[in-house]
Amino acid sequence: MDVLKEFVIQLVKEKGKITFAEFMEIALYHPEYGYYQKENPFGMQGSFYTSVDASESFGRTLAKGFEETIKELNLAPILCEMGAGSGMLANDILNYYKAESNKFYSEVKYIIIEKSKYLIDRQKELLKEHIDKVEWISFDGLNDFEGVFFSNELVDAFPVHRIININGDLKELYVIYHDEKLQFYPDEFSTVNLKEYIGKLGVKLVDKQIADINLDAVKWIKDVGEKINKGIVVTIDYGFDAKNLYAPFRMDGTVTCYFKHTQNNDFFERIGYQDITAFVDFSALMEYGKESGLNVVNFEPQWVFLLQSGILDEIRNAKTDLHRTRIKSLIIPEGGFGTNFNVLIQSKGVYIPDTFLYNKKPYDIFEQLSEMYAE
Ligand SMILES: C[S@@+](CC[C@H](N)C(=O)[O-])C[C@H]1O[C@@H](n2cnc3c(N)ncnc32)[C@H](O)[C@@H]1O
Repeated sequence: MDVLKEFVIQLVKEKGKITFAEFMEIALYHPEYGYYQKENPFGMQGSFYTSVDASESFGRTLAKGFEETIKELNLAPILCEMGAGSGMLANDILNYYKAESNKFYSEVKYIIIEKSKYLIDRQKELLKEHIDKVEWISFDGLNDFEGVFFSNELVDAFPVHRIININGDLKELYVIYHDEKLQFYPDEFSTVNLKEYIGKLGVKLVDKQIADINLDAVKWIKDVGEKINKGIVVTIDYGFDAKNLYAPFRMDGTVTCYFKHTQNNDFFERIGYQDITAFVDFSALMEYGKESGLNVVNFEPQWVFLLQSGILDEIRNAKTDLHRTRIKSLIIPEGGFGTNFNVLIQSKGVYIPDTFLYNKKPYDIFEQLSEMYAE
């Protein structure tokens, strides 16, 4: 039997039950056998693609937007990426500055916060050319930050608690070992924070409906707010606001697994060999972020954000049809990376003018997009 599965079974036997969040933490981040601690989870040979894999134009476009933001808001030229994965996004961003904006490249400092030791090594390898620009620090080590703090598909990789409505009673779904297999078992909430979250976000579930609650995201956004003095926080991920996320048509919650690019809900199979991920509740990030001084600047679909940041230039300058098609997959409003991907922009300690890049109205740029497709 797999070492990690055996480890989970022993732990569950000892403790009687563990929360799904505890299970997910082990499956993804066990220091030796967790999914993110070995092999390459990304791209073709991994389990999933992110926007970063679709085209380097994703990173180039973010780079453009962040440089403009730093200049417009008069921020220190510091970028902090949390959850940098393969390091490709950092590489695309720094390559862009080096090639297209050399003065900014000479000034910029790039901080990476990454949990996986395996991935830090890979990032260091990939970013060799920019190594004097990049600093790896722990989240605890980030303090009094000024600049742009951002993440792509970080929060969806945080462990979630699962709750269920059973005949009007809300219970938490634990992982138990019964009949010689790992399975779910409903019991009382493991923490009062779940009740607080449900109250604050107005989560209402119909009978037998399951919701996945990301308490780590709550702690994270409050901490991010505490750690920032002056700047913006850009969170890119799949997910919705609470009303949409916990709507009655999502009866089974959103947590799911990816194994070699195929989705499944066999949570207790291939432990440590497949990704587990859940949609992000952006309302929670907005509400709890306010507690540590983060103001909501904008919450918008990823394709709008990329258009605001200037992705149409990338399409215009693409050298091949294949490249053009790949960029377009990032901004097709329906399907691809368009449908479920959203971007939340929050600010702290800085005045945001109406003219701010990420305040540009979608209907202006929508026309440009339509023209581009008509070409
Ligand atoms: C789904 S991957 C996304 C990687 C990359 N941003 C991309 O778009 O390709 C999630 C990344 O977040 C990292 N991560 C998860 N939890 C973290 C935490 N608490 N602190 C730092 N990194 C974390 C994982 O190790 C992994 O690198």
